[in-house]
Amino acid sequence: MGLIQNLLLKFAMFYLSLPLPKDSPANVPSAIDTAGDATDVVFEFLPFIRVYSDGRVERLCGTDSVPPSFDSATSVLSKDVLIDSSIGLATRLYLPTAAPADEKLPILIYFHGGAFLVDSPFSPKYHSHLNSLSSLGPLLAVSVNYSLAPEHPLPAAYDDSWAAIRWVLSRADPWLASRGDFRRVHIAGDSAGANICHQMAVRAREEAGLAAIKGMALVDPYFMGKEPIGTERRDAEFREDMDRIWRFICPSTAGLDDPRINPVSETAPSLAALGCERVLVAVAGNDILWSRGWVYYEKLRSSGWPGSAEIIDTPDAEHDFHIEHPETEKAAALTRSLAAFFASD
Ligand SMILES: *[C@@H]1O[C@H](CO)[C@@H](O)[C@H](O)[C@H]1NC(C)=O
Repeated sequence: MGLIQNLLLKFAMFYLSLPLPKDSPANVPSAIDTAGDATDVVFEFLPFIRVYSDGRVERLCGTDSVPPSFDSATSVLSKDVLIDSSIGLATRLYLPTAAPADEKLPILIYFHGGAFLVDSPFSPKYHSHLNSLSSLGPLLAVSVNYSLAPEHPLPAAYDDSWAAIRWVLSRADPWLASRGDFRRVHIAGDSAGANICHQMAVRAREEAGLAAIKGMALVDPYFMGKEPIGTERRDAEFREDMDRIWRFICPSTAGLDDPRINPVSETAPSLAALGCERVLVAVAGNDILWSRGWVYYEKLRSSGWPGSAEIIDTPDAEHDFHIEHPETEKAAALTRSLAAFFASD
C-alpha cells in the first residue's frame, strides 16, 4: 500500500503541478499497513483526501468557506440559495451591481473543480473567481454546490448539476427572473467542473426541450483515457494512478474509456450532438491534461457539430493557474477572455 500511496502522491503533484513537499507522507513511514485499527488509512489521494478504515473521510484542502457578500473590489453582490430543500442543493448567485438595473444579463452556470472530491462555490478562490467573472462580463452567475465523492460517488455530481440547470431555467429566483437573459445561458467549469459541463451539454441534447444552453467553456478539463496520449506519457505510472482515482470517484465505471471520463472513446456519444452553440476550451501548457483538452477541441471540430469552437492555449502555465494564482497577468488574461466569451452574442 505504501507504493500506491506513493503513486497517488506523484499523480497529485503532477495534477496540481505542485512541488513535492519535503515531509510528504510518501517519504515518512506509512500508517497504511498497520491493519486492525479504525484509524488506518485505506485510501489516500494527496493533497486532497484521506479515507480511514472506519469510513471517515478527511479532506485535506478545499474546506475553507467564505460567506456571500457585497464585494467592494468588483461591486458584485452574492447570496446563497437552496434550490431544492428536499435534496439540500445549494447555489451561490452573483449579481454585478454596477450593470444598469434595466439591463438583462447573460447567465453563467458554473461548476467548480477539485477532482470531484474537494472544494465548493464557497471556497475563497472560487468565490473570488466568480466575483471577477460576474463583474467583467457583466454576468449573472450561479455557482453550484454539487455533491462530492466518495460520500456521493458519480453520477451524483452530474445529477445535482443537471437539477441546478433546470432550476435556473425555471426562473424561480427573483434575480434570475428579473435580470437574467435566458437567450444567453452559458455553462462553464474548470478541471472536474469542466468534465461536468461536457456531461451537461450531452444531456441538454438528449432531453428534448432543453436546448437552452448557448455557450460552454471548459478550462483544463479533467478527461482521460485508457491509452495514454501526448503529455500523459511523461510518467508511466500516471495512467495507473488515474485509473485508481477514477474508480474511487465513480465506482460503477468500467474504466478510463467510460464516456464520462473519456468523451472521445468509442462508446461515447458523438460530439456532433453536443447541446450548445459555442464552445471554448482552455488549456495550460504545463498541465498533464493539456493533450486531452486539445483532442477534445480537435474532435469536436471534425465531428460535424454545427457550432463554433475556439481554444485558448496558455504556454508555461500550470493546471488551474487562473484559479490558484489569479494575481498573475496570464490568469487575469484568461479570466477576461472567459468573461468576454460569455458576454458576446
Ligand atoms: C455543499 O456540498 C458539500 C458536498 O456535498 C456538502 O458537504 C455541504 O454541506 C454543502 N454545503 C451547503 C451549504 O449546502
